[in-house]
Amino acid sequence: MDIRDFESLSETVRNLIREAVEIRKMAYCPYSNFAVGAALLTEVDAKVYTGCNIENAAMTPCICAERVAIPKAVSDGYLKFKSLAVVAHQKDSFTAPCGVCRQTLSEFRGSDGDIEIYISKPTMDKVLCTKLSQLLPFAFISYKVDSIAEK
Ligand code: THU
Repeated sequence: MDIRDFESLSETVRNLIREAVEIRKMAYCPYSNFAVGAALLTEVDAKVYTGCNIENAAMTPCICAERVAIPKAVSDGYLKFKSLAVVAHQKDSFTAPCGVCRQTLSEFRGSDGDIEIYISKPTMDKVLCTKLSQLLPFAFISYKVDSIAEK
């Protein structure tokens, strides 16, 4: 995990962060007033899928930006992600994906078993660079049907 200058990142990553900044403007967050944008880069075809958080008066249906982007990509047939950019504004910290989003992302890790994660503020100056395996070590992966049969 390290903090890098936006300008030092590759054009692909800078573009991913820009997309997250743009989609963040669509956030529907009248309850928290905390807008988040997310952009996913698919492993195959290098396509970008974006999402913003969408809240609800009933609270439990609120959905994070990351979990808006993921089903858009998956329902188009993209099941492996190379990178994720997350953009939100907190004065003194970077906004890391919540636990539910981490587990959801874990399902769609790239062929290398990981997803690069870039966390930025809308100002796009400093970027926290990390990866899913750092944010969700020892993730729940799967159980095998065999193990159920052994019960
Ligand atoms: N939120 C996200 O969209 N992504 C995150 O990674 C953290 C939290 C949203 C959910 C809710 O709409 C608002 O931020 C405040 O928690």
